[in-house]
Amino acid sequence: MSATLKSLRALSDPTRLRIVALLERDELSVNELQEITRLGQSRISTHLGLLQDAGLVQSRREGKRTFYKLNSQANGAVGEFIQLANRGAKELPEHSGDQINLKRVLARRKEQAQVYFNQIAGRFDRIYGPGRSWQAFGHLLLRVLPPLVVADLGAGEGLLSELLARRCKRVIAVDNSEKIVAFGAAKAKKNGLKNLEFRQGDLQNPPVDVDSVDLVILSQALHHAENPADALRSAHKILKPGGQIMILDLLKHNFEKAHELYGDRWPGFAESDLHRWMEEAGFKKIEISIVAAEEQPPHFQTILAGGEK
Ligand SMILES: C[S@@+](CC[C@H](N)C(=O)[O-])C[C@H]1O[C@@H](n2cnc3c(N)ncnc32)[C@H](O)[C@@H]1O
Repeated sequence: MSATLKSLRALSDPTRLRIVALLERDELSVNELQEITRLGQSRISTHLGLLQDAGLVQSRREGKRTFYKLNSQANGAVGEFIQLANRGAKELPEHSGDQINLKRVLARRKEQAQVYFNQIAGRFDRIYGPGRSWQAFGHLLLRVLPPLVVADLGAGEGLLSELLARRCKRVIAVDNSEKIVAFGAAKAKKNGLKNLEFRQGDLQNPPVDVDSVDLVILSQALHHAENPADALRSAHKILKPGGQIMILDLLKHNFEKAHELYGDRWPGFAESDLHRWMEEAGFKKIEISIVAAEEQPPHFQTILAGGEK
């Protein structure tokens, strides 16, 4: 049978005209079409099969459900047939009822999509969300960074250094633990990060050239230094003029076990002490704020301190 005859045959039935008119607005599943038209499921499926066969309708699978819509690529004769079918459907007695039911079904679909988010409103940051992670947010934020030269002091195995190396020109990760440096370097090599270099050294006198980096990072490292003020003076030295320092550390706490559990030298820092040491080291535009607070005891709080050379 020719394509034209197939289309004419497909549109010779009032129920199929109703279906075409309903699919004009949005794609619909068989269940939704059933609810709108009050017709049986097998009847609807048969009609959809004929319309699809004639090239008037397309389908898309989503899990166990199939959605149908008008052939969006239809042009020429098929496009004209769809227009004609829509005009014919408007003359049918069921048309206005179908349109009212369609509105109701689409409104409910929209509500269902919002139910979940309405339930979790106010708790968004504390519950699991597929694909949402701080690591992913980190990658997103990195995209807005210019290609800097970075020194990550007390870098550990390079969790942060590795992230930075994906975007920065060069990252020098300094740590005084021989084992950690060997592990971090091997991991960076395995991950193909040629611009990430691990160096063993003390963050109070880091093995990094004077005036050579754009950014110094001290992430949960300063409270391990014997003399934090010295560490900040050294950080200032290795920065290029205009370079930035970013410190993440703990706000002063009274959890004494931190020494024995985590090897901490200092129980975090008061914002005022950190500010004074940074100023004495020569930093300008100093900004210090608390950026995170843990819900579980001992309720550690995280300070973010930044300044410019
Ligand atoms: C809590 S970890 C932080 C690691 C990393 N910066 C992070 O945020 O994931 C502290 C790291 O500082 C290193 N460290 C401690 N004292 C140091 C010092 N005086 N000089 C250099 N690194 C030091 C430790 O070996 C350890 O890897």
